[in-house]
Amino acid sequence: MSDSRCRTAILISGSGSNLQSFIDKIASRELALDIVTVFSNCADAYGLTRAADAGIHTCCIEHADYADRESFDQALAHELDQHQPDLLVLAGFMRILSPWFVDHYAGKILNIHPALLPAYPGLNTHQRVLDAGEKWHGSTVHFVTDELDGGPRVLQGRLPVDPGESAEQLTKRVQAVEHQIYPEAANWFAEGRLKLRDGTAWLDGKVLAEPIVREFE
Ligand code: GRF
Repeated sequence: MSDSRCRTAILISGSGSNLQSFIDKIASRELALDIVTVFSNCADAYGLTRAADAGIHTCCIEHADYADRESFDQALAHELDQHQPDLLVLAGFMRILSPWFVDHYAGKILNIHPALLPAYPGLNTHQRVLDAGEKWHGSTVHFVTDELDGGPRVLQGRLPVDPGESAEQLTKRVQAVEHQIYPEAANWFAEGRLKLRDGTAWLDGKVLAEPIVREFE
């Protein structure tokens, strides 16, 4: 692992298919980052197995063992800081982070949300999109700030909703999009092209007033 590569911690709570896309793209030398640790707040998260199989350090601290959000977040930061991360990638990490934590890693946290933000923040997005009869859906990579699903947007993958498809089918199609756009955006950060400054995302020295949009089928 060279010192110039971006030291990345990936935080998960579940399956870790996004984590796997990072592991695969690092193996094929497509990314300027290394995963220094994978953290889960759930001991049975399958992503921990994916990480261990790839020889990556893992850690689990269960949030139920902590009295409140901030004491869990402090334990989490204590663990992460031992790995000196340059970037935190939230990949299906089902915890709201405290303002203290977000400030501790200011400008260094990315998240992926399965909707075309600002549309459909929150949970159960695929079913809600189908119920509303939307024509378009997708996923958004954004910086994490104190506002839930509200930080500056960086990159979106957009795809047409197929008439009559189920929430399961739509979920799979959106996840395939995520596996492309999340490593791409994280790599911009790793290469120093993407930054958060004064609450605004910048790419290649220009303000990203709107996210970059990639179209998928
Ligand atoms: C992804 O769809 C992501 O958008 C959301 O949680 C899901 C995680 O999936 N935040 P996986 O654990 O990466 O398979």
